[in-house]
Amino acid sequence: MSLYDAIAELYDPWSRGVTEDVSFYVEEAVARANGGAIVELGVGTGRIAVPTAGAGVPVIGVDSSPRMLEVCRRYAEEAGVAELLDLRVGELEAPPVDERVALVTCPFRSYLHLLDDAARERALRAARDLLVAGGRLVFDVFAPSAGDIEDTHGRWLEREPGIFERADWDEHERTLTLSVRGESGSTSFVLAWLSNDEWRRLLERAGFHVIGCYGWFDRRPYSGGEDTVWVARRPV
Ligand SMILES: C[S@@+](CC[C@H](N)C(=O)[O-])C[C@H]1O[C@@H](n2cnc3c(N)ncnc32)[C@H](O)[C@@H]1O
Repeated sequence: MSLYDAIAELYDPWSRGVTEDVSFYVEEAVARANGGAIVELGVGTGRIAVPTAGAGVPVIGVDSSPRMLEVCRRYAEEAGVAELLDLRVGELEAPPVDERVALVTCPFRSYLHLLDDAARERALRAARDLLVAGGRLVFDVFAPSAGDIEDTHGRWLEREPGIFERADWDEHERTLTLSVRGESGSTSFVLAWLSNDEWRRLLERAGFHVIGCYGWFDRRPYSGGEDTVWVARRPV
């Protein structure tokens, strides 16, 4: 049972305002797929995978929530791209994928669900193993600013009409307990953040060569904000 099962129907209305990353990931897929499929880890309801398939790129989507995948399948059918999506229940740390691809993505901070370095390293190594030599892993993460924490800590905020979100930050443990509730469901899960230096070290330990560290989806170089977009290559 995944913590996202309970909010599978709420997820898209909840994240309606998150659009800034879609064209970035679709462009990466179109530029890098090399005529084959890409793998999206933590594919969710297909917020990114469905437009990626719409651009003609087949997607193998892995997620631990069967209900999120059901919603994804429905959206893919509605968009007429179901035959380009291959959806599989599985874990970030052990994706059920035997294929080797030129691009693996893990959008919208899904790696923050991994709560310690051992899990992160297993997941990054697993992503590396899915790549052909020279293939790329692209993902984004965040680390909160003091202002984020001060503005939101311990308060229910109406993120979208009728959908409430609460952030409980633990600055010592560097974890965020994120709760969401709406008419169609509610859940609560823990996310853990790291510094950029720590992500870089983990990527290098997992056998990647970091080729990009952006501060936003327009590819501006990282210069100290909350969001980071990583591009790492499996060496040839
Ligand atoms: C923030 S959502 C991102 C969904 C989608 N990529 C998007 O951009 O909208 C995180 C997704 O990761 C999945 N997830 C969380 N922990 C996971 C794990 N350990 N293994 C596989 N999937 C996981 C959740 O079920 C959820 O669908």
